Amino acid sequence: MNKPIVYLDHAATTPLHSEVVRQMMEVLSSDFGNPSSTHQLGRKAKQLMETARKKMAAILGVQTSELIVTSGATEAINWILKNAVSHLSIRTIVSSKMEHHATLHTLEYLSQNQGVQILWVRNNESGEIDLNHLAELLQNRPAAMVAIMHVNNETGVVNPIEQIGTLCQQHQALFMSDCVQSAGKMNLNLGQLPLDFAVLSAHKFNGPKGIGLAYIKKGISMTPQLHGGEQEKGWRGGTEAVHQVVGMAAALDLAHQHLADNQAHLTALQKYAISQLNTHFEGIHWNGADPFCTILNISFPWPADMAPLLVFRLDLSGIAVSRGSACQSGSSKPSHVLAEMGPSNWLMAPSIRISFGVNTQKTDIDALVEALLHLKPNG
Ligand SMILES: Cc1ncc(COP(=O)(O)O)c(C=O)c1O
Repeated sequence: MNKPIVYLDHAATTPLHSEVVRQMMEVLSSDFGNPSSTHQLGRKAKQLMETARKKMAAILGVQTSELIVTSGATEAINWILKNAVSHLSIRTIVSSKMEHHATLHTLEYLSQNQGVQILWVRNNESGEIDLNHLAELLQNRPAAMVAIMHVNNETGVVNPIEQIGTLCQQHQALFMSDCVQSAGKMNLNLGQLPLDFAVLSAHKFNGPKGIGLAYIKKGISMTPQLHGGEQEKGWRGGTEAVHQVVGMAAALDLAHQHLADNQAHLTALQKYAISQLNTHFEGIHWNGADPFCTILNISFPWPADMAPLLVFRLDLSGIAVSRGSACQSGSSKPSHVLAEMGPSNWLMAPSIRISFGVNTQKTDIDALVEALLHLKPNG
């Protein structure tokens, strides 16, 4: 019989919670009405949508009218940034080169096609951004916006979004934060944070793929992302995927019901992983300062020619992880995040990102260590 896969790639995606599947199946099989229909089935579907939205708004500390359902974080980021330029007169966007490609590629598009000025805030070798530099960049810069994520998806570095938001307010700049890696894993009261926009993605917190949220602070005007209907305040036309929305709300609700226990579990796991890896692999390098409890990014002091195949070899041993930096998982490019950090002498070293979920166990870490011991040169 095949051994079950040891899944240590929860920053990429998470498995669906069984209760989420149950609620989604019920909608798919029984509550299939179109929320725009006025008959009973339609009204039931509408009620499911709005109950889900209320639940998520209460958890995130925002008004229901401030949450717009999207197909995920990539769509939400594209919409928010493009709208800021086309509709809110933003001419300068300050961001970090360590952002997710959803942000970086949208900024590249806006710079090339709309002539938007993109400014990059500096960071140190541990991936922490330089707040003094951010303040300098915002000085005397009207019509500016800041796009900086909460938790970095490759290193787990937590950006101080409260301080960043306060700086933005002092300089009358808008602020968007990609909260994909923190949502459902820490208490995120968006309404109390100095944020104008935030984005979430359900598949990162044991919900379904293809669904996410844009938080748009009350009073901010948006152009529709999709024309064609009155759905989502007329900002995103098209018949709603009710089962996805119900699944997303159920996943966020479950994550918050168990937040304290989950955090304690993940923190203990991360500590265990650090101690096991330090014990068995002398001289390893930890990428990223004080990473969030779900993520570790590690470089090994092994020959660079092992880098391209490390993730592949772990996969053959039944361990699913992501690449940490250079030339892995079939890519010939180094990670853009680690390339911005350092130290540069570690960039070509074999490295991995491991990321934990609520079902990860210490035995999964033990299996990883064992597989790595087999791969270690002269191991
Ligand atoms: C930090 C971050 N932002 C954005 C995204 C894109 O999210 P989605 O898959 O919902 O488009 C991801 C997913 O990989 C992510 O980790």
